[in-house]
Amino acid sequence: MVLPVADDPVSLRIMSGIHDETLERLREAAIRAAGNAYAPYSKFYVGSALLLDDESVVTGCNVENVSYGLTSCAERNALFRAISEGGPGRRIRAVAVANQEGASCSPCGACRQVMSEFVTPDAVVCFSDRNGPQTRRFAELFPFTFAFEPETEA
Ligand code: THU
Repeated sequence: MVLPVADDPVSLRIMSGIHDETLERLREAAIRAAGNAYAPYSKFYVGSALLLDDESVVTGCNVENVSYGLTSCAERNALFRAISEGGPGRRIRAVAVANQEGASCSPCGACRQVMSEFVTPDAVVCFSDRNGPQTRRFAELFPFTFAFEPETEA
């Protein structure tokens, strides 16, 4: 099977069922959310916007702490808010993450792991790297997901 080319806008519509204008609005929502970031230590202001399976959009921003390791990323804050407000059955169809100044910002490994339990199989992730805006399948960003299914263990 030939998979659609990820940076072809027409193929993106096909591969995700999400219109590219919707993804653009999601990117804009992520940039707006970065305006709420609390990042006095890194000065790296991040926002995230999730498109959920009920078509709602939930946003989050990074919240840092003087005890640096307690910092929480924008993506996880958005996700925890989505589950807190919508319940454990909510699923993520698309994720946008953005730095307020347009700097490269792809989801960190910890956020990918946390998101992996809540994404739809064809979920897409929008971010920017040094080559500009990117839209990729979540599965491409996070293959071979760790899974633990205790009920199936002997
Ligand atoms: N950060 C995020 O919010 N999301 C990411 O995907 C990468 C990093 C935040 C954490 C920290 O507050 C700042 O960016 C610098 O690492």
